[in-house]
Parts: sequence; structure tokens; C-alpha cells
Amino acid sequence: MNRAMIVAIDGPAGSGKSTVAFELARRLGFVHLDTGAMYRALTWLAARDGVDVEDGAALARLARENPVSFSAEGRVEIAGEDVSSNIRAGEIDRLVPAVARHPEVREVMRERQRSLGSVGDTVIEGRDIGSVVAPNAEVKIFLVADEDERVRRRSADRPETSADSLAAELRRRDQRDAANTQPANDAVLLDTTDLTVDQVVVCIAELVEARR
Ligand code: DC
Repeated sequence: MNRAMIVAIDGPAGSGKSTVAFELARRLGFVHLDTGAMYRALTWLAARDGVDVEDGAALARLARENPVSFSAEGRVEIAGEDVSSNIRAGEIDRLVPAVARHPEVREVMRERQRSLGSVGDTVIEGRDIGSVVAPNAEVKIFLVADEDERVRRRSADRPETSADSLAAELRRRDQRDAANTQPANDAVLLDTTDLTVDQVVVCIAELVEARR
């Protein structure tokens, strides 16, 4: 039997990663693994338990003792709680880059990501999947999009926030995530600015078929 196939999809916030990874996994019948959700879940737990986001050793311990899991329906769970909605709060957006930047936290999370990604064919989305988590992935994609388009996509999710605030927030996040974003040298760079979700998914699905 062939070993499990991995499709790595990396890219910044608003590049279309989550939508594309979800839809691609659905069409291919692959598992979808959202590694950003894992860092978000740990951040939620740290906030609940009063663990300092500057304390890498304490956060790594918290991560080791509370492995993130996903239900069959894709719900995100940590420490026995379903945090799928809570991890999308603005407060988590602000805190998560600080949690994700600790090397000892990343080590624990990457180990868990590799284990979750080894169960079967998987689409893994994140920032460092093709370069560090799964350097042997059969297909590696790095998604990008123009800033204006990324802001437009965010506006659709958050109609109550002005475009100017969303643009400022996006720039702040890009800066804070830069250190954790490591495109693989051999990733296919895909600019999604003028593409529909369907076009992006079809394009990646063709690359997957070519590798099968
Ligand atoms: O993709 P997202 O916005 O849900 O990611 C949440 C945070 O986690 C963001 O600050 C980037 C970080 N992250 C990371 O450092 N490495 C990953 N593989 C995935 C996400």
C-alpha cells in the first residue's frame, strides 16, 4: 500500500488558505488539518488558565499536556472543550502570534501535526508545513494575494469592521507572523488575487492527480 499523501498549503492571512484547503480536502476525500486552529486553541487555553504568552516553557508544557484534536466533523477540541467558535475571537487574533513564536511551542505543535497528518491522505494548511512540518509532502503550495483583495475577503467575514481597520490589522498580523512563515523553496507559488476558490482548488487538484 502507498503511504499517506500530504498536500501542504501555506500562506499569509487572507490568502485563501482555509477556504481552499477545506474545499480541496472535501473534493479529494482527504482529511483537512488546520494547524492555525491548533495554535489558536492553545492560545485560548493559555488565556483561560492565565498562562503568560511570553513564557515559552510554560506554554510548551501546556501544549504537551493538552494535545489539540479534531472531531470527525472538524470541530477543534482542547482540554475536553469544543473551542471551534471561541478561537475565532478578535482577542485570540491578537494573542496568537505571541504564542506561536516560541520555538519550544512550535516543536510540540509540529510533532502533533505530523502525528495527525500520518493517519491518511491529508491536506495540511499553515505557515511552515511544506518547509518544516512535512518537507516530504507530495504537493506544496504557497498561496499569496494582493493586500486590497485580502482586505476585501476579511470584510466579507467581518462586515462590522471598517476596511481601514482591517487593512491595519492585516499589516500588523503580517509583521508578527513573518518569523513563523517559512515558504518551502520547492513550493508552487499561486497568486489567488484574481482567481475564484473553484479555480484555485481545480489547479491544486490537478497537481495532486499528477503526483498520484
Ligand atoms: O492561519 P491562522 O490565522 O488561523 O493562524 C493563526 C496563527 O498561528 C497565526 O499567528 C500564524 C500562526 N501559525 C503558525 O505560526 N504556524 C502554522 N503552521 C499555522 C499558524
